[in-house]
Order: sequence, then C-alpha cells, then structure tokens
Amino acid sequence: MAGAELHQDPAAFSLLDPEVQECPYPFYASVRQQCPVYRLPENGFYLVSRYDDLKRVLRDTSTFSNAVGLARDAAVGDLMPSITRMYKERGWQPQPTLQRTDPPAHTRYRRPIARTFTARRVQSMRNAIAASVDALIEDFPDSGVTDFVSSFAVPLPCGVIADQFGVPREDVPKLKLWSDALMDSFSMMMTPERELEVAELLLEFQQYFARAFEERIRAPADDMLSDLVRIEAGEQPMSMNELLDMMSQLLTGGNDTTTGALAEGALLLATYPEVQRRLRTEPELVDNFVEEVLRLESPVQGLMRVTTRDVELGGTMIPSGSVVIARYGSANRDESHFPNPDFFDADRAEAKEHLAFGMGPHFCPGAMLARAEMQIAFRNLLAQLGSIELAAPQPTLAHHRSLLHRRLKALPIRYQTL
Ligand code: HEM
Repeated sequence: MAGAELHQDPAAFSLLDPEVQECPYPFYASVRQQCPVYRLPENGFYLVSRYDDLKRVLRDTSTFSNAVGLARDAAVGDLMPSITRMYKERGWQPQPTLQRTDPPAHTRYRRPIARTFTARRVQSMRNAIAASVDALIEDFPDSGVTDFVSSFAVPLPCGVIADQFGVPREDVPKLKLWSDALMDSFSMMMTPERELEVAELLLEFQQYFARAFEERIRAPADDMLSDLVRIEAGEQPMSMNELLDMMSQLLTGGNDTTTGALAEGALLLATYPEVQRRLRTEPELVDNFVEEVLRLESPVQGLMRVTTRDVELGGTMIPSGSVVIARYGSANRDESHFPNPDFFDADRAEAKEHLAFGMGPHFCPGAMLARAEMQIAFRNLLAQLGSIELAAPQPTLAHHRSLLHRRLKALPIRYQTL
C-alpha cells in the first residue's frame, strides 16, 4: 500500500461510497493511524478499527450491547409502519434473538445452537462436504471457463446448510433467494422498492419455516430444525417469532459468509500463481491459507453494537446510546498485531488469531463448519484442477454494495482439468 494513502485524512473517504466499499483498506489504514475510533460523518456511527480495541468491544457486552434494533429500523425510515403491518397481518413480527441480544437472554438462544454445532457433527459431515465439492467440480463446463461464484461458491454452502436444516436440496434456490433478501435487509443500502420486495420474500421465508418447525414438533428428525424445537430439562420453549429470527441468522450465516470467503480464496489463488504452486506441493498449508483468506477479506467486515454508557475507547469519548461498528475487516489488518498486514503470508504464525468469526459470547457458532467447507474445497480444487486463472480483467470484478458485508458478485475463472 502506498505511503501517501496511509497519511490521507479519513474524512477524504466515505464508507457509503461504492468505491470505498469496493476497496476499504486504504480508508481503514488511515483511520487506524489517525483516529482509531472514528465517528463517521455521514451517520454518526463510531467505527472501531484496531485489533485490541475491537477485542474489548466484543468482550464487554454490558457496555457494547447487541440490542441495536433501533438503528436498523431507522435505516428503513418511513416504510417501517407498512412493513410492520405486513408482518402483523401475514407473518410473524421479528423478535430479536441471538446476535441481536445480550447475555443472559442471549445464553438461552445459544443453548440449542451449541446442541446442533458439535465437533462430532461437523466431523461426520466431512465426507458429505467432500462429495458435494467433487460433484460441483465435475460439473464445471468443458470450455474451461466458469463463474466460480455461481457454479461453486454459492451452491456448496447452500447445499450443506440445506442438509443441516433437513430441508430438501430442490428447495436450495428458494433458500438462496431468501438469504439474499435477508442480506440486503442488513446492508442498509436498499432502495424503498427493494425494501418492500424484501419484506414480501421474508414473509414467504417465514411461512416456509413455520411449516417446517410445526412438522418437526410433531415428528422430530435428526436435523438442525429438530434440535431447535427440542426442549431439554429446565428450558423454556421458544415462540415461533423467536424460532424464525434464529433461522434468519442461521440461513445467512450458513451460506452467504462462506460463499464470500470461498470466492475471495479463489480470487487470491487466481491472482497469485506462486501461491497455487506452493499449496499444490505443500497441501498441509491449505489450513493456514484459509485463515489468511478470512483475515485479509473478512466476509463480515463489520457489525453493530450500541453503547449503554459513556465510554472512552482508543482516545475517543463515545456517548451512551451511540452506534458502534465493530470493524473486523480493519482489525484483521492492524499492523500492531499482524506484521506486514496487507500481504498474504502462507506461513504466517498468527494467521488464526484473526477476528473474522468474532470473539466472546457471540463467537460464530458455524466457524468449525465454515472452516471444514473451505479446507475441503481448496484442497480438492487444487488437486483436481490444473492452473486456475482469472478469465476477466481484475478491475471488472465487483462486490455487492454493503456497509457490513463483503461478497464478490461474480468471479470468472479459467482452469485446466487434470
Ligand atoms: C466464513 C464463514 C463465516 C464467517 C466469516 C462468519 C462470521 C461471523 C461473525 C463475525 C459473527 C459475529 C460474531 C460477533 O458478534 O462477535 C458470526 C455470528 C454468527 N454466525 Fe457466523 N460466520 C461464518 C459462517 C457461519 C456458518 C456456516 C453459520 C451457520 C451454519 C454461521 C452462523 C452464525 C450465527 C447463528 C451467528 C450469531 C451467533 C451469536 O450471536 O451468538 N456462521 N459469524
């Protein structure tokens, strides 16, 4: 990164600018250097850019609360009353659970999640994941060119999470449509037309999963939906509003983030042939490669918290009631923790210390599953394909617009089948 960029004033950038979202790293570097807890002039949110400050935010849930519903509702603006009416009349009013709650309420939602994401279950899924990976590679066109996002990075995690939920594979296209709608609803970048379209899609999502939960209550199966409705000693059953809000997080968590990470990893391989060569000769480095991908191109760039009291952080006084953006994407490139942070380093000793899965009580429960999918995917892609190259000029690649997430829209690659 050029030194001149590092010294630019953060005010020279806007995080709402599509160009800054496309490559936010010079902006993050200038914030880390000049004002590590930076108040975004556009919306007054406080961006936490440094590694140690972020850890403090993620651990101290009593000061940095996850109950940020109001900030998101404010982004919907004038449409909020009609959207609320739609849910009231035809669906279930979303009730904050998990990521939108703090301990002790959060602990109650985490219990069924811990039941379902056990190491044993993820281990038992490895063969099925490998079979899905191989089938997708097998289907790559003979022309030697494909869009990696639509032919691999989307269908792999969508299929895996459908199996986990216990819903049929033929419903995967619907899951993807609903997941995209949910991701848009978190983006804070929607037009009013899309807001209404998204609300309609989310009603469909609610009706589908409400039926699926009712079936599992009548006849439990060995799947995640059954784990969520099962009640163990001392537990209170969850309402349908709670179950559906949990599902919205599991659906988006379960596929979009992994899609983003898979595509960024493939882009890294296609851009740096020397990395491919090294991983082909030393496949044991693939696990560290996966960690470096998550560190460098964190699919969740930021999430929100709200302060419950006045608090000083990184030299800035944040008033009570302020929205804070925990910026994983910046902390993971903090030079005080990761030497030479903008460079991929296959041997980086501290690669796994990234915060791409968060930390503390909200640490991503799907991390083990996401890592398994990425490790198997890259190991098998490298074993089954010869050179992987970009099939489009780098500047034509683009990410979806979002204040919080990072996902490539498409990634045309050229490959040789071995
Ligand atoms: C590369 C893939 C993934 C990334 C980068 C990722 C990242 C994250 C992050 C940053 C958080 C918030 C942590 C915090 O607040 O500090 C989170 C929470 C969460 N993730 Fe993931 N995730 C991934 C995959 C998954 C998968 C595969 C699932 C489910 C199948 C999942 C489900 C969830 C859920 C339910 C939460 C909320 C947990 C809570 O608030 O207690 N994620 N994830």
